[in-house]
Amino acid sequence: MTSPRFEERRRPHGGAPIGLGILGCGTVGGGVLRLLTNKAAEFERRVGVPLEVRRVLVRDLDKPRVPELDRAKLTTRVDDVLEDESVEIVVEVMGGEDLAGAWVERALDSRRSVVTANKAMLAKRGPQLLDLAAAKNVGLAFEAAVGGGIPVVRTLRDAFASDEVIEIAGILNGTSNYILTRMTDDGAPFAEVLAEAQSKGYAEADPSLDIDGHDAAQKLLVLAMLAFGARPPDSGMLIEGIRGLDAIDVRLAGQFGYVIKHLAFGRDRGETVELRAHPVLVKRSSVLANINGVLNAIRLEGRALGPCLLSGRGAGDMPTAVSVVADVLDAARAIVAGAPGIVNGARPLVARPLTPTTEIALRYYLRLSVADEPGVMAEIAGALGREGVSLSQIVQTEGAGGVAQIVIITHVARESAVKNALVGLEGKRFLRAPAVLLRIEEG
Ligand code: NAP
Ligand code: HSE
Repeated sequence: MTSPRFEERRRPHGGAPIGLGILGCGTVGGGVLRLLTNKAAEFERRVGVPLEVRRVLVRDLDKPRVPELDRAKLTTRVDDVLEDESVEIVVEVMGGEDLAGAWVERALDSRRSVVTANKAMLAKRGPQLLDLAAAKNVGLAFEAAVGGGIPVVRTLRDAFASDEVIEIAGILNGTSNYILTRMTDDGAPFAEVLAEAQSKGYAEADPSLDIDGHDAAQKLLVLAMLAFGARPPDSGMLIEGIRGLDAIDVRLAGQFGYVIKHLAFGRDRGETVELRAHPVLVKRSSVLANINGVLNAIRLEGRALGPCLLSGRGAGDMPTAVSVVADVLDAARAIVAGAPGIVNGARPLVARPLTPTTEIALRYYLRLSVADEPGVMAEIAGALGREGVSLSQIVQTEGAGGVAQIVIITHVARESAVKNALVGLEGKRFLRAPAVLLRIEEG
């Protein structure tokens, strides 16, 4: 039988409900309210006391919301949430960096546990917020910030506690993967598919974060903190998105047996951390090439474990809400147990510089639109050869109006050497458009 003293410690609430304050009621917030309402009895059984939503912060009181929301709880004043003494867990699902960061800081400072889905805020202020949570003995949980519904934060924090992650490769942006899949499979135009991804609730409020690569880069920074204990500098990461990706490259890559994906890549190199997020060509037969639509995938390479792949829906209301609410349940159980909150910092963070991009060595796909004239191919091959770039395959396709497309696949080469060769070709009379460079990931 449990002793009364243990009971007292385990249930400092004496069975009282745990109050939640929710900042934001859009795509993710709506999903969170849905789950909290529809599975309330199950969650009470798991936590030991009921979870009660006290206030929900929004900008516009009149917008349509999910039917599970009790509109009387809506407010546009953040103080109604953060100064409500009965709010013990703050759920931040509003997005943005500075305002959300300031409010999360206020919540932690007043000893509330915080659950957030906000990778932009974590990439910018994660280390400071983790320190504050630890100092205040409350939880800061962010499973939903990376990979939507995929439990990658728990995997890194718990399952990899006994190992060491040396490499991460992930499809981390659902919107980009959705767009690339539709462009590859159906030849659909970029703008049309982006609008589809927005209507499905996958894209950020500012979709340039998705299509310019920043969302994937922010998630990679969060993973690098957890996996490598790295606190990289704020700027300098190689980040490219899929905006401007030409349908012709999707088609030509296919002819060489590749699929184009947007990949975030991290490697622990000891003194430095290599972090980059950009489109890549992957072999059609590879696992990552077959992660399609809104699915995300994260391949973790453990020193002892070897490769481990996690995959699932990386965006959208319910997959993301599953991760948010799982964190809420953890935080609530910790409160009921009288235990310190779970702080999702898997390893102590150490400031480490990024690996210089000049040290990156990969295979490259190059496409040059050129005048279909004698000597052009030789000049291009010569420029690459002078930089020590060795060529694996070259194909020239005959185009309309005397313009040909030359596609080159290189052997592994230093990126700086390839770029020097392309700079040397700029301004040549035969070049009809800027050269296209895409990286190739063989793993
Ligand atoms: P969203 O649909 O745009 O919803 C944002 C909500 O926050 C809205 O209810 C908005 O109020 C409210 N809000 C924003 N700024 C506010 C302010 N200054 N004051 C008061 N309320 C404010 O965004 P979302 O897609 O749910 O994303 C929320 C967060 O989850 C972001 O950090 C995002 O990166 C992250 N996330 C999203 C997904 C996804 O699939 N969508 C997946 C993983 C993580 P109004 O409704 O009144 O405008
Ligand atoms: N906009 C993000 C994506 C949401 O498309 O992946 C999930 O973080």
